[in-house]
Amino acid sequence: METIKDLYKNQEKYINTDVEVAGWVRTVRDSKTFGFIEMNDGSFFNNLQIVFGNELENFSEICKLTISSTIIVKGTIVKTENAKQPFELHAKSIEIFNLSDSSYPLQKKRHSFEYLRTVAHLRPRTNTFSAIFRIRSVAAFAIHEYFQSNGYVYVNTPIITCADCEGSAEMFKLTTLDLDKPLPQKDGKTDFSNDLFGKKAYITGSGQLHGETFASAFGKIYTFGPTLRSEDSNTKTHANEFWMVEPEISFCDLDGLMDIEEDFLKFVVKEVLDKCPEEIDFCDKFIQNGLKEKLTKLLDSNFVRIDHHDVIDILKKADRNWEFKPEYDGDLAKEHEKYITEYFNGPVFVKNWPKDIKSYYMKVNPDGKTVAGVDLEVPGAGEIMGGSQREENYDTLVARMKEMGIAEEPLYWYLELRKYGSNIHSGFGLGFERLLMYITGMENIRDVIPYPRTPNNCDF
Ligand code: 4AD
Ligand code: MG
Repeated sequence: METIKDLYKNQEKYINTDVEVAGWVRTVRDSKTFGFIEMNDGSFFNNLQIVFGNELENFSEICKLTISSTIIVKGTIVKTENAKQPFELHAKSIEIFNLSDSSYPLQKKRHSFEYLRTVAHLRPRTNTFSAIFRIRSVAAFAIHEYFQSNGYVYVNTPIITCADCEGSAEMFKLTTLDLDKPLPQKDGKTDFSNDLFGKKAYITGSGQLHGETFASAFGKIYTFGPTLRSEDSNTKTHANEFWMVEPEISFCDLDGLMDIEEDFLKFVVKEVLDKCPEEIDFCDKFIQNGLKEKLTKLLDSNFVRIDHHDVIDILKKADRNWEFKPEYDGDLAKEHEKYITEYFNGPVFVKNWPKDIKSYYMKVNPDGKTVAGVDLEVPGAGEIMGGSQREENYDTLVARMKEMGIAEEPLYWYLELRKYGSNIHSGFGLGFERLLMYITGMENIRDVIPYPRTPNNCDF
């Protein structure tokens, strides 16, 4: 059996030969003596046009095919001149495997993305989600390819953890205690000593700390896996379950890190442009006008690198009524991210952040006020990467943990990295879905995740 992708990629070979294909009906048009079916088998973004005539014994049933019915077709590939599609399949037989029920909710009209989320089990069959999820697959492979071909070791950091990286308040708790019974108490708190792990455990919100231990053995490592955060953020860019890529590089400072981030992003974008031309054309036409130009331009651009302090200067000078006032010691709000990426018309590295709003593990700069952290901001998706040079000095790190109320004892192993072969090292985390939003032009994170998990939504 051939796939539609085979037929498109090896057209010359298939012209005037007999093939067999199977797939889902997208549309049927018929007149008295012949008709056309647009069929898709999932292998390729484009459909296959099938021509059928009334010499087929089940002609009248074929004419009544409903959208999303499954068919198995045998016939000859014929070259078409001056048509939308380069070839079509002249059917010799069409076996109807399943006549889809007429209640199929995705009839031939445009549906809103909001509606399509309510049929998440069917939406991959639409053009939009066919494009999005194929791009997701290609981008995931490109991520592995980038790191593998540059000598990084892929590490599977644990999903269950007791280590606090980005703040335990945002980690889901994991327990086998019977929640229908009163929980055991000790000193006014829940007592987890009889829980499965003998202590309070969480689902990971970052693999960074474990990643750092492996970077101290392999030099360069990366993780790529599911990440969970319990934050109650109902925005277009937050999900409670997302995928994160976390590289960690020994003997690398903040400038070196930004070089890698930029090179990596360009590689993934280029791979998607090369391998998904049909999907990108579709997104360019129907999701974000100018998308292809934006991505192509990115490949030859140099990303702006600017200190947080200078970003605030720009924001303060801007003639805007900010909802959130830009502050030198404050975070960037969505409106600020948007302004700054539009101001520079492309991705922007914002570096050297005020230490009080960043994590304890970031390298404290000589000014004592800022840390060597960097966020990459892009138009639309906002912060897609967050990274830093890590504090490699044992005493400074311990002092920072104390300042920020992070318990040292559970992280003794992390601290030991600063005793046994410490080195200047850096790493970042890329939110895979935010990258996909940027690459596809999709405006809501819920539309680049197969089954999004967000506050009040765990359907399917
Ligand atoms: O900035 P974050 O919190 O950084 C870390 O977790 C570091 N430990 C990474 C590292 O240095 N190894 O998260 C990294 C990225 C963000 O820039 C964002 O793209 C994404 O993860 N992210 C989310 N994506 C979707 N939904 C959420 N709730 C996200 N939270 C973070
Ligand atoms: Mg961040």
